[in-house]
Amino acid sequence: MAGDQVVRNTQVILRDYVCGVPRESDMYVTSDNTISLKNSQQKIAKYVYCTPGSPIWGYGVAKVVDSSHPEYKKGDLVWGLTRWEEYSLITNVPETSFIKIHHTDVPLSHYTGLLGMAGKTAYAAVFEVGRPKKGDKVFVSAASGAVGQLVGQFAKLAGCYVVGTAGSKQKVDLLKNKLGFDEAFNYKEENDLEAALKRYFPEGIDIYFEHVGGKLLDAVLVNMKEHGRIAACGMISQYDLAEPEPLKNLFQIMLKRLHIQGFTHRDYDHIVPNYYEFVLPYIRQGKIVYVEDIVEGLENGPAALVGLFTGRNFGKQEVVALAPPQKQP
Ligand SMILES: NC(=O)c1ccc[n+]([C@@H]2O[C@H](COP(=O)([O-])OP(=O)(O)OC[C@H]3O[C@@H](n4cnc5c(N)ncnc54)[C@H](OP(=O)(O)O)[C@@H]3O)[C@@H](O)[C@H]2O)c1
Repeated sequence: MAGDQVVRNTQVILRDYVCGVPRESDMYVTSDNTISLKNSQQKIAKYVYCTPGSPIWGYGVAKVVDSSHPEYKKGDLVWGLTRWEEYSLITNVPETSFIKIHHTDVPLSHYTGLLGMAGKTAYAAVFEVGRPKKGDKVFVSAASGAVGQLVGQFAKLAGCYVVGTAGSKQKVDLLKNKLGFDEAFNYKEENDLEAALKRYFPEGIDIYFEHVGGKLLDAVLVNMKEHGRIAACGMISQYDLAEPEPLKNLFQIMLKRLHIQGFTHRDYDHIVPNYYEFVLPYIRQGKIVYVEDIVEGLENGPAALVGLFTGRNFGKQEVVALAPPQKQP
């Protein structure tokens, strides 16, 4: 019946808590459940894109298919923390859980990354935490990932010399030839990471944008300049270890009087309007490039998530749960 449509709802379900590296078998895909698209009391969002994140949750783009919530109406596009399913019944909408999408002249997929959580994170990393000065020597790890590729480009816009590292020749080529990094190297081909960094930063690193942790962080500490700064965003090399790797160069923090600041994007919701004002003109002029690795179908979500831990993604990993609307209202 029109207006009271009941549909099958494909979902990615976490089988059990994961210990170590996640495997596809830790999740399963089911279409056993149905959901009504009409509900006069609740808000229902139809998912267009999902971003792999923690199991069954991730940052995604959604379209409201029905709502009685005063802030959301049918047809609204939003981005925020979403579930890995085609349709969701949302009974409790905390104020900050979704941000309305007003600019639809740019691809909707950008709201899972460039204009979503990853973009906000990169903007906060560079302009709130790292605060580079013109001419600063900047190093970025996981540089071709969702956050790193933007950190590098924003640091270039701030007038820095920027070197990135990534885990394949193809990614290194991307950094140097498409994303505008001054230099890039494949950390997997370096036997001595300290020596590799010395090669690119003979006078030392002013700011390190940290996404990886472990051995790379240890090598960076030795290569920092006095009073250098580290914006600690993430440490992906450590997430799947039973025991974190020990670091041997922590003494450098005192010796070099380093400033290390950890941060989370959750502290920076308030900067989103400023961020959009800054970044949208660059996107429209083609001056910011964003590489997206899009797979079709929720059933391919588990493999995409597992691939983040082995570097299989090439740019921001996105999963299309339902085809986006052809034309925006
Ligand atoms: N603080 C926050 O609020 C916040 C927000 C977003 C993300 N983060 C963190 O920021 C980091 C980057 O996230 P992202 O979303 O940009 O990345 P991403 O797009 O998910 O890509 C992850 C990349 O990390 C690299 N990687 C994986 N395992 C590695 C290892 N053992 N050693 C070195 N590199 C490894 C891989 O690239 P290679 O092929 O180059 O190895 C992989 O493609 C993560 O640590 C994430 O947790 C933090």
